[in-house]
Amino acid sequence: MLTLRPADVAIWSELLPEVLSGKMEPDGRAERRLDPEQVGAFRFFAGSALAARADARAPAWLGAGAAVDGPDLRASHYVAEILLRCGHLAAPSGPFSDPRAFAHFSRLPAMQACRAEFVSFAVDSLPPEPGSLRVLDIGCGDGGMLAELLPALIGAGRWDEVSAVTLLDPSPAMLSSAKARIASAWPDSHVEGRIARLEDVASTLAGPHDLVVGSLSLHHMPRERWMELLAEALGPDVRPLGIRTALATPHADLFALHLGRPG
Ligand SMILES: C[S@@+](CC[C@H](N)C(=O)[O-])C[C@H]1O[C@@H](n2cnc3c(N)ncnc32)[C@H](O)[C@@H]1O
Repeated sequence: MLTLRPADVAIWSELLPEVLSGKMEPDGRAERRLDPEQVGAFRFFAGSALAARADARAPAWLGAGAAVDGPDLRASHYVAEILLRCGHLAAPSGPFSDPRAFAHFSRLPAMQACRAEFVSFAVDSLPPEPGSLRVLDIGCGDGGMLAELLPALIGAGRWDEVSAVTLLDPSPAMLSSAKARIASAWPDSHVEGRIARLEDVASTLAGPHDLVVGSLSLHHMPRERWMELLAEALGPDVRPLGIRTALATPHADLFALHLGRPG
């Protein structure tokens, strides 16, 4: 996320028509009007606007953006890859309806490092609770995060085994990938998938759950209702045990949260 001041918005609004009409090239000349820190984001913006209009100049702008992308989200690089693979940008039929985009995103080195950090943070901060674990993953995505977290928790002696996993996600494709991944890694546990948004099913999620995770997902849900929804879903004795930035960029923090019964 990049926050533009009103003065920046005015400059971007003047430059975009020049990009679309072909008067402006991604060669740094007209971009001298931009705050230097915004050049990469502007190239991404211009490249995406051209791609959305199926304009053949999009790859040049995205390529120039990729050349100055920071090490975090690499936004231009990401969209340029999609153009290369699909030939066009198409609006998805629903958020996260195609798990491939997130699978690509989650393999970026910055994302892998954040995920590894969250896993070790969760392992260190959860109270040891030998026994069998019942876990709920809110916004489980393709299950990649849980597939790393569960073995790490068991390897560290936090739990002995996994007995039940409830996966919640409104994207059928994401849920199906997560279910297949978790069921094959934990064949003896009960794996249940719910295709739904947290805000629509919170009252029907009552566990008992020993651990609840929401990684890179809570920002998709209504912020002002988080605590109410979590209390509704989890009951009064499950509390946040740790909340941690899962991905930090100069402009935004996404975070991960895990909850359980305090030991
Ligand atoms: C960025 S992915 C994160 C996936 C996974 N938790 C991880 O860390 O790899 C966010 C997921 O949240 C899901 N999501 C979006 N809105 C949601 C909602 N209202 N309730 C539950 N899940 C939601 C999306 O479908 C998506 O799969």
